[in-house]
Amino acid sequence: MIGSVELTPESAERLAYLVEQLRIKNIHRHIFLCADQTKPECAPKEEGLASWSYLKKRLEELGLTRAENAIYRTKANCLRICHQGPIAVVYPEGTWYHSVTPAVLERIIQEHLIEGRPVQEFVFAEKHLG
Ligand code: FES
Repeated sequence: MIGSVELTPESAERLAYLVEQLRIKNIHRHIFLCADQTKPECAPKEEGLASWSYLKKRLEELGLTRAENAIYRTKANCLRICHQGPIAVVYPEGTWYHSVTPAVLERIIQEHLIEGRPVQEFVFAEKHLG
């Protein structure tokens, strides 16, 4: 059995600071992108990295990481699809995308992350969590 872990006041303070800093309570959508993998299988490493750089740059440029309805991004080592990538998934909808190049990402950002309409041409699975 695993006991609970008491946070020190310093750790609790640090975590509270990070929640604030990363605007965790404002997260509206979260996109995971397969990039910079240990074993790049869904797409060549350079392609995943190009998409990841583009995603980071555009979310910053559009102010979406600091917005009231913030977009959170996470680089995934592998999303277990390993085919027709780069692969991405957006929550809370649980919308899975294939072929996520920078051009496709721009559409995902504008149409799905901002407007809430998945880009159906690149969706290959959907499963809302909860
Ligand atoms: S390497 Fe991208 S999904 Fe597995």
